[in-house]
Amino acid sequence: MRRELAAAARDLAAYIKAQDENLAEAAPGSSVVKRVSRPSPAAPPVPTAAEPEVKPSAMTHKKPADMDALAEQVKACRKCGLGHARLNAVFGVGTYKAKVVFVGEGPGFQEDHKGEPFVGRSGQLLDKILETVLGLKRSEVYIANIVKCHPMKNPETPEAHGNDRPPTPEEISACRPYLDEQLRAIKPLCIVTLGSVATKVLLGTDKGISLVRGRAYDYPVELFGPGHPIKVIPTYHPAALLRNPNLKRDTWEDMKLLKSFLETSKIG
Ligand code: URA
Repeated sequence: MRRELAAAARDLAAYIKAQDENLAEAAPGSSVVKRVSRPSPAAPPVPTAAEPEVKPSAMTHKKPADMDALAEQVKACRKCGLGHARLNAVFGVGTYKAKVVFVGEGPGFQEDHKGEPFVGRSGQLLDKILETVLGLKRSEVYIANIVKCHPMKNPETPEAHGNDRPPTPEEISACRPYLDEQLRAIKPLCIVTLGSVATKVLLGTDKGISLVRGRAYDYPVELFGPGHPIKVIPTYHPAALLRNPNLKRDTWEDMKLLKSFLETSKIG
C-alpha cells in the first residue's frame, strides 16, 4: 500500500512538471490554443477488464525517444499481411504534447509513398480545416490512423492507383495496440475520429458517422485510469467532404465544438 502511494506521488509530481512545461509552451503570443485544466491523477490507474494494467511510467508524458522506439516497432511490424505489402509504415505526425489527436482510417497511396498520414488531397483539406476553423497547424496537433500500413486490394501492386480498401477487423485488431500506446504517450484531451471506420473502432459502435457526429463522447477505454476521460468528437472523413461538399457545414459545426472544448474544456 505504502509503495503504491509513493508511486502515485511520483506520478503526480511528474504529471504536474509535464503540465508546467506545456503551459510554458502555450505562452501568450503562441498560436497554441489555450490549455484547459484537467483533474490531477490522485490515484494510480485502475485497470478495466478490457485493458491491460497501466504501468505507473505510462502516467507521464513520454519523451520523444519513447515515441521513436514505438515508431521503430511499427516499422518492423509484420503482425498482419499489411506489413509485408506496404512501402512505408505510416506512424503518425505532429507534437507528442498535442491536446487533440485526429485519427483516420489508414494510409492511402500517397501516405504509403511518403510515410506520413494525410498528405494527399484529403490531407490538404484536413490542413485547411485545421487552419481556418481551429487556427492550428498540423505540427500543433497529432495525426494518426487506425492502421499504420496501406490496406491494398492487390498487395502485389503498391505502385498502382485506385488500389485502396478499408482495413479488415483482423488488421485493425493487430494494429490497435500501437494507437493506444500513442494515445497513452500523448495524453490528449480529445480525439477527433475522421469517418466511419475510425469512429466505429474507437467508440465501439456499429452506427454510421452521420448518426453519431454532432456531439462529444467519452473514449470508452480508460487509458490513464479513472478521472482522466478523453473526449471523442466524431466527424466526416475529409475524403467524404471531397466527394460531397454538402457535408462541410456539419464538419465545420463539429470543429467549432472541438474549438470551444479546447478553449473551455466544457463539453456535455
Ligand atoms: N485517409 C486516411 O484515413 N488516412 C490517411 O492517412 C490518408 C487518407
